[in-house]
Amino acid sequence: MSYTITKPWILGSSQAMLEVFSLLERIGDNDVTVLITGESGTGKELVAQALHQQSKRNKNPFVKINCAAIPENLIESELFGYEKGSFTGAFQRKLGKFEIANSGTIFLDEIGEMNLATQVKLLRVLQEKEFVRVGGYQTVHVDTRVIAATNKDLLECIAKGTFREDLFYRLNVINIRLPSLRERLADIPELVESFSRKFHKKFNKEYKPFSNKFMGKLFQYDWPGNIRELQNLIEKAVVLNDEEVINEETKNNNGIKAENKQFINEGMLNMDYKSAKEMIIRSFEKEYFSALLKRANNNISEAARISGMHRKNLFVKLRDLGIK
Ligand SMILES: Nc1ncnc2c1ncn2[C@@H]1O[C@H](COP(=O)(O)OP(=O)(O)OP(=O)(O)O)[C@@H](O)[C@H]1O
Ligand SMILES: [Mg+2]
Repeated sequence: MSYTITKPWILGSSQAMLEVFSLLERIGDNDVTVLITGESGTGKELVAQALHQQSKRNKNPFVKINCAAIPENLIESELFGYEKGSFTGAFQRKLGKFEIANSGTIFLDEIGEMNLATQVKLLRVLQEKEFVRVGGYQTVHVDTRVIAATNKDLLECIAKGTFREDLFYRLNVINIRLPSLRERLADIPELVESFSRKFHKKFNKEYKPFSNKFMGKLFQYDWPGNIRELQNLIEKAVVLNDEEVINEETKNNNGIKAENKQFINEGMLNMDYKSAKEMIIRSFEKEYFSALLKRANNNISEAARISGMHRKNLFVKLRDLGIK
């Protein structure tokens, strides 16, 4: 199966992906701000493109900016542009991404890396749909749709004081959470076949499926780099015509399944016992309660029943952990 309403094909038939597709369908061409979350390599950019493609803005620009890749002192002029003479070397006015994306979509990738000063300005654009270019006086009005993505837990960033809560609520009108590959192992055969065909074609080789042994190993692995990692691995296997690549991959990445995952890291050995224990418990709780909710189809009473917790206590717990 794949989500084909729009161009970039998003593959998947697992329950987790069907939920994503259903949400995408319901968003449709509504001009709504969306926050896409998910681990690295889960397809956040693909989904952002799909949202733009299926919107009424699809004839207008889709402009991407990676907030992590741009030095802190340049991000403002990248986003909002600058006026001639606003600093040495500013020989002429330069438009920022917000203006270039006017009547289209701006995709703010890795929004969790944006500094606080820029967050304030972004909040203003979201509220007023206007801004001032760096070194300018004139107010610029724009009609730019915002889609943001991050692999960070923004609620944790808010707690740490590195992300503004008001901005979070502005961006998180609709949240699309992309599942990790671990949560959608059922999609592996489909993804592998599609990538494999693509790379056989690209490298002018005659298509041949992988062995069952190879396929079996793909299910044993943890996939920290998610779909991107799988795609790269398949490319390597096709180019080298060698199924051994999976063994290297799992070795290099400590490719053990979650059960055997070592959860003590170097950093924890610098903490006192109580803090280390709390940190592990919190990450366990996050995984446990997210999975529990999913199991219970987001029905709190059902989740309370399974876990043997009081409904109210469970609710407080979920809120505390930032699970929706
Ligand atoms: N469901 C999917 N079907 C097909 N290809 C996918 C799917 N999800 C991701 N991919 C492919 O995997 C690669 C990584 O996807 P993408 O760049 O969208 O991930 P990302 O979440 O933005 O990652 P990062 O956080 O590292 O930027 C891309 O080549 C993309 O085409
Ligand atoms: Mg990305």
